[in-house]
Amino acid sequence: MKSELLFSSLYVAYNKSNGHKITDYMHIPQMEAWFGEEEAKAVSDYLKGNLKGRPWNAEFEKAVRDVTGASFAVTTLNGTISLTQALLALELKPGDEVLVPDSTMIATPNSCLIIGLKPVLVDIEKETLCLDLTRAEEALTPRTKAMMYVPLNGRSGNMDEVVAFCKKHTLFLIEDAAQALGSYYKGTHFFKKHLGTFGDIGSFSFSLFKIISTTQGAVLVTSSEKWNEKIKLLKDFGRTGKGPDIHDHFGFNFKMSGVLALLGVEQFKKLPWRMKRKKEMFARFKDGLADTPQVEFIKTDLSVTTPWFMDIFVDEPAKLATHLKKEGVDTRFFYPPVHTQEVYKKDYVGKSFPVSERYATRGLWLPSSSQLTNEEIDHIIGAIKKFYKVKS
Ligand SMILES: Cc1ncc(COP(=O)(O)O)c(C=O)c1O
Repeated sequence: MKSELLFSSLYVAYNKSNGHKITDYMHIPQMEAWFGEEEAKAVSDYLKGNLKGRPWNAEFEKAVRDVTGASFAVTTLNGTISLTQALLALELKPGDEVLVPDSTMIATPNSCLIIGLKPVLVDIEKETLCLDLTRAEEALTPRTKAMMYVPLNGRSGNMDEVVAFCKKHTLFLIEDAAQALGSYYKGTHFFKKHLGTFGDIGSFSFSLFKIISTTQGAVLVTSSEKWNEKIKLLKDFGRTGKGPDIHDHFGFNFKMSGVLALLGVEQFKKLPWRMKRKKEMFARFKDGLADTPQVEFIKTDLSVTTPWFMDIFVDEPAKLATHLKKEGVDTRFFYPPVHTQEVYKKDYVGKSFPVSERYATRGLWLPSSSQLTNEEIDHIIGAIKKFYKVKS
């Protein structure tokens, strides 16, 4: 967007005009939310009552449908409750088992626990860091009813195989695409399809640090009219339009506030620029660190993937993180394997998940917000090279 580009160049100009060395004053956060004048005006108009009657949620849902190609989209509370809502819509029952990758944000398995389902953790593939179907096969039991596939950081495995696996084993497929807005999978038949649209239901989170944000919020997508209807009933107290206090079904209040939906409408206009920028950023980090063999990148096809976080894998990430902190650079560690987290570990004593364990001990997220300037990226690259004593 024009305003975002203007912001970037002003920021660089400010840094330069200050005549400081970049490290003298710079603090580079790992992530930042980014709202502009357009969002401020939309919220102000909303609060002044100037936007009465505008179908805010429907506009946001249309924006999601347009980008993802999904037939239906429903705004909802956040990317955790949305997953629970999907499981409820598919009528999973307490005790049913759901395959979940061992490497994901804790919300994925937690969304199952909330309603008494059993998340069954599965190791990941080293090429994509997504759920490994071979390991999934070993985890199947007669109670397995669904798979939650997480295209982590916008990357996915072979979605044709994921869909075929679920079909073969009569499993519902829910895609937790919280980190995959702007990312696609291109199968063998040369067309690309947005991640989150391969299964029964897909979920996108719009929390504060996502590529675009509604501060908190999520959207569920589906191509099934039946699931769409159920998702809508669940979100609005089971109302079917017969009157505000007539409830033909059981339901909750999972509604997204109109003011947040409006934020989403404005933010979506900025998505194409931000997708482009995230890809440029990832490419700049990768090129800049090409001569630093200590830093591993996951193979990433930028023609289909919009990396949400700039992820690198190194020995002893804590030491690198401490060094970067001194250089004014914040980082964040990769997710610990879910099976090592307090709530889950009692069920996995003595079990090993070699790939998720290996990547958890090596992963580091570098600054990743789309405001990051090229100068800041080069500063981070320089700081990493300094740590490994590689000449710039
Ligand atoms: C993979 C994944 N699933 C679910 C969530 C939860 O989304 P929310 O924070 O909107 O509840 C996140 C949040 O980052 C996530 O990364």
